[in-house]
Amino acid sequence: MSDGRGRWTSRVGFVMAAAGSAIGLGNIWRFPYMTGKSGGFVFLIVYLAIVFTMGISVMLAEVVIGKAAQRNPVGAFAKLGGGLWPLVGFMGLTAGFIILSYYSVVAGWTIAYIFKTPLGLLNYSDPKELAEMFGKFVGDPIQPIIYHAIFMALTVLIVVSGIEKGIERWCKILIPALFLILIVLIVRAVTLPGALKGIEFYLAPDFSKIDTKVLNAALGQAFFSLSLGMGCIMTYASYFPREENAPKSVIWVVSMDTLAAFLGGLAVMPAVFAFGFDPAAGPGLTFITLPAVFARMPLGTLWAVLFFLLLFFAALTSSISILEVVVAYFVDEKGMSRKAAATLFGSMIFLLGIPSSLSLGVWGDFKIMGKVFLDFMDYLASNLMLPLGGIFISLFVGWFFWDRGLREATSEGRYPLSWVPLWKLVCRYFAPLAIAWILISGIW
Ligand code: PFF
Repeated sequence: MSDGRGRWTSRVGFVMAAAGSAIGLGNIWRFPYMTGKSGGFVFLIVYLAIVFTMGISVMLAEVVIGKAAQRNPVGAFAKLGGGLWPLVGFMGLTAGFIILSYYSVVAGWTIAYIFKTPLGLLNYSDPKELAEMFGKFVGDPIQPIIYHAIFMALTVLIVVSGIEKGIERWCKILIPALFLILIVLIVRAVTLPGALKGIEFYLAPDFSKIDTKVLNAALGQAFFSLSLGMGCIMTYASYFPREENAPKSVIWVVSMDTLAAFLGGLAVMPAVFAFGFDPAAGPGLTFITLPAVFARMPLGTLWAVLFFLLLFFAALTSSISILEVVVAYFVDEKGMSRKAAATLFGSMIFLLGIPSSLSLGVWGDFKIMGKVFLDFMDYLASNLMLPLGGIFISLFVGWFFWDRGLREATSEGRYPLSWVPLWKLVCRYFAPLAIAWILISGIW
């Protein structure tokens, strides 16, 4: 096994690293506000249905491709499919560029909040003041860009210095810690006076709210949260020990990610209602409501710092996985050094993030399809490119790679897979058709 590419030490290593990629801002920042914007419980149900049908199938499809090819996504499609298939890998790289550019901007906010909290700058229990502070901060033309630069620099640094040992070791500590903190926060949030309305909104069914916009949002969120559709899980799976049980790992990663998202919503929603916020407030939700919760807790500053620190680490374990996709391609296929590739493309991604940051302030009037630049980039990558990638990955495994893919999934029959017929059906027909339908109906 010494091909110089490295390996996770075990299945648990892969699961933790992939969960590190999956669990990030998407769960604790994006999921709660998407849920708030898209109808609460209904969004949750649609989301779960998508995750446990298409999410699992596409993730297993990515894993078998990565495991079989042991290459980056472009190289993997070239090796296993040839023809035009590498284009799917290229679309993944492009999505990676776009996602990381604004992801790093938001991750930068977490760094800022880590510092602002002990300085007493967030010590308001009045969410109106926190909202004002948040708006002023993210709208500033300089400050958030500096934090964005710091976050990108850290991401580059870790990718440059080789990540396998670092990622695996850190994820094994940080992911359980994140769950622990979330549970403590939930206990505080649900015991706030007035929290019940938030729980109702989050957990009470009103199916009349389902429409194509909700479907589209849930689909995008599922792909974003599970790191699917752009070859990220594929890249990580290329370091997968070949004799290990792939489907079981996939179920673990999907379950952990979903649990983290559900808990993220449960931490944020009750507080939103307790403080009389609009659940559809958008990207600021987590950054405004949670500090208000902390301010009402004993040792609030400590919890707040801990929370933003964990959010920062969760973001870092995700951002590394995105940059790794880009770097792996240029290292594998173009012979660049890891250092040069990470630095060059990390810098380009930083530059691309600047308009996203400015779009929350001075460039706020510039809109594409009615969205500010950050929201547009997010929409373009998560709601269009990732699902589109998912269609092609499913079609590839379902129609062109099935026999070999099945052998990879079961490790040559060592782990019989009881849901094979279902997986085949989803890859061949259900996922491509359902995703295409949701995409088309969501766009018009
Ligand atoms: N899954 C990450 C999150 O939920 O924060 C974001 C992400 C990572 C998206 C890796 C896409 C990706 F390839």
